Amino acid sequence: MSLLLTGGMGYIGSHTVVELLSRDQDVVIFDNLANASEAVLTRIEQITSRKPHFVKGDICSREDLEQVFSNFNIEAVIHFAGLKAVGESTEIPLSYYHNNVSGSVNLFEVMAKHHCKRLVFSSSATVYGEHNQSPLVETMPTSATNPYGQTKLMIEHILQDLAKSDPQWSIVNLRYFNPIGAHQSGLIGENPKGIPNNLLPYVAQVAVGRLAQLSVFGDDYDTPDGTGVRDYIHVVDLAKGHVKALNKLTDLPGCHAINLGTGNGTSVLEIVETFKAASGKDIPYQIVPRRAGDIATVFAEASKAKELLNWQTELDLSAMIADTWRWQSMNPNGYE
Ligand code: NAD
Ligand code: UD1
Repeated sequence: MSLLLTGGMGYIGSHTVVELLSRDQDVVIFDNLANASEAVLTRIEQITSRKPHFVKGDICSREDLEQVFSNFNIEAVIHFAGLKAVGESTEIPLSYYHNNVSGSVNLFEVMAKHHCKRLVFSSSATVYGEHNQSPLVETMPTSATNPYGQTKLMIEHILQDLAKSDPQWSIVNLRYFNPIGAHQSGLIGENPKGIPNNLLPYVAQVAVGRLAQLSVFGDDYDTPDGTGVRDYIHVVDLAKGHVKALNKLTDLPGCHAINLGTGNGTSVLEIVETFKAASGKDIPYQIVPRRAGDIATVFAEASKAKELLNWQTELDLSAMIADTWRWQSMNPNGYE
């Protein structure tokens, strides 16, 4: 029996592949390489001394999906595949709805046809919208402020309806907070195309000399130092959360939303200071106006994951930053 990881060549997917292979699971990666490099496969093999199956395919292609489900005996799916850039989603919303929502419906239909009804889905803290007060709890009302967030919310709703319609489904929607860091080996990590949108890859590229300086989006928020506060989580802890969720699917019918976060908040300036200390590099920055759509503070209530999955984070901020720096300095141009 195999596990199928759609989007398994990407940032979070590749770290999850490593955790699964090191637990002797048989893994099939299904990815169209829209935002990933094939070099990831060699790196995974270097870390684990094992080779996952790799199928180049698109979740928007029924034929590609049919083929992988016919060729392998898939017992469960972790569904990472999707487009994830918030700004881009406002410019090309139809591509986001097509790729993320239609692609997901395709996947769920093919799964149902092949009697594979165990699923872990990559959702996001973005589904809490802008009106809830942190700590964010799974029972709070959800909403979206951009097309990317809408796709996550729509897929969560589709999965709730699916589980209601057929009690054989076991589904966990993992709501990630802010994944950062890299595998301790420095061999795999986040490899954004073009100028990074997110804070950590941006800071890392300033430290390594690829970008001149960081723009800090606002210092007038109602937070201890005025800059935005987020719940950063080490990608290896996040990957381990997927292993726990997969194991839980066997005795958890229905559809469940679970936060994966630390429960702690860190400001932009705290990130800059920690990064400086870890890298020994200066991180020049300037304060610029707030970024549209940002909110002051986002952090998780993390107790449901502990109770239901017996999972909690183990790696602290200094490990997250040290590992980000190791990855960035060993691979200044990513996988190229
Ligand atoms: P990523 O871009 O590194 O990985 C996504 C992978 O999916 C890529 O390898 C890409 O090539 C693949 N892909 C995209 N469209 C596809 C398609 N149609 N068919 C097959 N493969 C396709 O992103 P990531 O950071 O690893 O995120 C993984 C998932 O987690 C995404 O669904 C993302 O929305 C979600 N998520 C990410 C974050 C984050 O901060 N990284 C936060 C919350 C949720
Ligand atoms: C962003 C997305 C969110 C997505 C999440 C994880 C937006 C509006 N939100 O969240 O939907 O789920 O990434 O992928 O894009 N910052 C700077 N300078 C920078 C970059 C960021 O000051 O160059 C600040 C931001 O204002 C924020 C913090 O750093 O306070 C974190 O930003 P980022 O890494 O983009 O994550 P989120 O905004 O939490």
